[in-house]
Amino acid sequence: MNKQIKILSLSFAALMMAGALSAAHAAGDAAAGHEKASGCANCHGADGKGRVPLAGKKEAYLLEQLQAFKSGARQEAMMNMLTKKLSDADMADLAAYFAAQK
Ligand code: HEC
Repeated sequence: MNKQIKILSLSFAALMMAGALSAAHAAGDAAAGHEKASGCANCHGADGKGRVPLAGKKEAYLLEQLQAFKSGARQEAMMNMLTKKLSDADMADLAAYFAAQK
């Protein structure tokens, strides 16, 4: 139990540090996001220019939408289901990738 709490708070600290370090520019890793984006291509296009376009939207906006889908604050059956499987890092990477597409 104690060990788990320690690991949790350590990873939380690491997350905070990662956030602080990358605050100057994109929080997510666009290259990593590219690899994770294959599951989004059917609806959003591999480059974010599909039926529901994501390309060029603000990274912070995209991340916020993904978090809202995951929490259920924004309702869309497909996105609610898909985001359940995504970690915070996945969502940050995906947001960075799609925001970087012009
Ligand atoms: C089966 C189709 C489908 C797949 C696959 C899918 N999406 Fe979506 N996504 C949608 C639809 C439909 C909407 C629009 C929802 C609405 O109108 O509220 C949406 C909306 C979004 C939005 C909000 C866009 C905006 O302008 O507000 C983001 C961000 C997003 N999706 C990211 C992703 C990511 C990242 C993936 C891959 C992990 C993904 N989606 C996979 C169908 C899909």
